[in-house]
Amino acid sequence: MPEHLILLAPSANRVYAADAPRLVGAELQALAAGFGMTGAAVEPVALAGVDYLALHTEDALDDTGRAVVAALSAAHAVFRREGDLLAPVRLPRLGRYPDDLVTVQKYQGKTNEQWTRLLLNVTAAATREPGRLLDGGLRVLDPMCGRGTTLNIALSLGLDATGVDVDRKDYEAYSAFLKTWMRQHRLKHTVDDAQLTIGGAKRGRRLQVEVAPTKDDFKAGDVQHLTYLSTDTTDLQGLVRSGSVDVIVTDTPYGVQHGSHGDRLARRPLDLLDRALPEWTRVLRTGGAMGLSYNRHVAPRDDLTALLAAHGLSVADEHGAGEDPDAFRHRVDASIDRDLVVARK
Ligand SMILES: C[S@@+](CC[C@H](N)C(=O)[O-])C[C@H]1O[C@@H](n2cnc3c(N)ncnc32)[C@H](O)[C@@H]1O
Repeated sequence: MPEHLILLAPSANRVYAADAPRLVGAELQALAAGFGMTGAAVEPVALAGVDYLALHTEDALDDTGRAVVAALSAAHAVFRREGDLLAPVRLPRLGRYPDDLVTVQKYQGKTNEQWTRLLLNVTAAATREPGRLLDGGLRVLDPMCGRGTTLNIALSLGLDATGVDVDRKDYEAYSAFLKTWMRQHRLKHTVDDAQLTIGGAKRGRRLQVEVAPTKDDFKAGDVQHLTYLSTDTTDLQGLVRSGSVDVIVTDTPYGVQHGSHGDRLARRPLDLLDRALPEWTRVLRTGGAMGLSYNRHVAPRDDLTALLAAHGLSVADEHGAGEDPDAFRHRVDASIDRDLVVARK
């Protein structure tokens, strides 16, 4: 049975502290299950005082297996174990754009990049066609996108993405950031930032971007489409087509004071979700999946899964192997007991 050892990025420890191997291990288990890596088993191991995630597979890692490991939110390096020795394994580079797309923005209330990537991965793995995560075909919606952490991760993976947020300041900050970033990196792109008027009614603003990593890609039409709607997520009629997205991925308001305007608007996340879910399920295609990051202190897991079921979604066993409903649960601070839940349409 081949064994690979995955060295986690040091930043994962900064985000999750001692929980990093467990969380990234659960992520890998979910990806392995979604991508049909039969018999894959994951366990944290320590070797000469260094922590790794061990991945046992029935067969040697093929291209898909290597791409799955490369997609992990916190894989730093991977080795094949050969007796006492570790042989480095070259992983495919999945990012289409410079990494600073995801890291450069810093602001209060930003959802951690690794957690967002983990959420996207685990949600994509639960869809009927997880392969779209790796081939650029997955259409992503973050219906409460803030300043766009999910949008940037999706873009960087070569995916099309749509974001929605009611906080105009977030929209403006994101729009300014993305325009500057594309200019600084001399990326061929188009931008349309305009008032959103549907049937004569003013509905906020809309940013539409087309961008490609190179001029040749742009010319060949190999572009990413990004849309950001500055509007209320509970009403997307006329703005997002039914069945048009493969995954919905969002970090729901934590119901605590972050200094963010939006969080003050939504102190009761379950009420907000109850109002938003009819629209979110409408725009999600059948076979698609929804992944929500949430604070258990303000949204008990059972209440949230019951709400998702009441809206016709089936809550997935998001961690593949998983009887463990706490696989992704971790403490952020005294007021945030963070977890995720994945549901399929
Ligand atoms: C936890 S934050 C998301 C942060 C984001 N992931 C980021 O990294 O920037 C939750 C977001 O939900 C948004 N929100 C709350 N109620 C909303 C509503 N009714 N419609 C759209 N967005 C809403 C808030 O404005 C806030 O930006």
